[in-house]
Amino acid sequence: MKRLLASTMLAASAIAALAAAPQARADGKALFQKNCAACHQASGKGIPGAFPALAGNPLVQGPAPDVAMVLLQGRGGMPDFSASLSDDDIAAVLSFARSAWGNKAPPLKGEQIGALRGQLGVPQFANGQMSNKH
Ligand code: HEC
Repeated sequence: MKRLLASTMLAASAIAALAAAPQARADGKALFQKNCAACHQASGKGIPGAFPALAGNPLVQGPAPDVAMVLLQGRGGMPDFSASLSDDDIAAVLSFARSAWGNKAPPLKGEQIGALRGQLGVPQFANGQMSNKH
């Protein structure tokens, strides 16, 4: 009985680990590779004179609204991601950037991004067919 319980618990935690692993870590990194690395590079070092380094960047590691605003509104050659990434995606990709390449800042939450949209007057994220209007 004891043995059965132990192996059941082992199986359950293995399943939980499997279910949790791909999202928890990979997401932000995968989002970065797909949406940001072309300019800022996988190394986070950017391209001097063209794309700023995010590695060691104080703004990236600074207050949440300062860094999230750049993604929600765009700036210069930096595209606006407000219509292409959800609040959770923006939080995930920024949480990745805030903890990769030696950066050390706490993660962000989707709710913070949603609240900031409200403050900035940036439209809330609309999925799929809804965001097809432009
Ligand atoms: C098409 C190229 C391009 C892509 C793609 C891109 N960026 Fe940028 N990014 C820029 C440029 C250019 C700037 C500098 C903007 C300025 O101040 O003129 C910038 C600035 C930034 C800044 C502000 C840095 C600072 O020191 O002021 C952050 C943060 C940032 N990008 C994050 C991201 C993230 C995260 C992604 C992916 C979701 C991304 N960028 C995708 C080109 C890009």
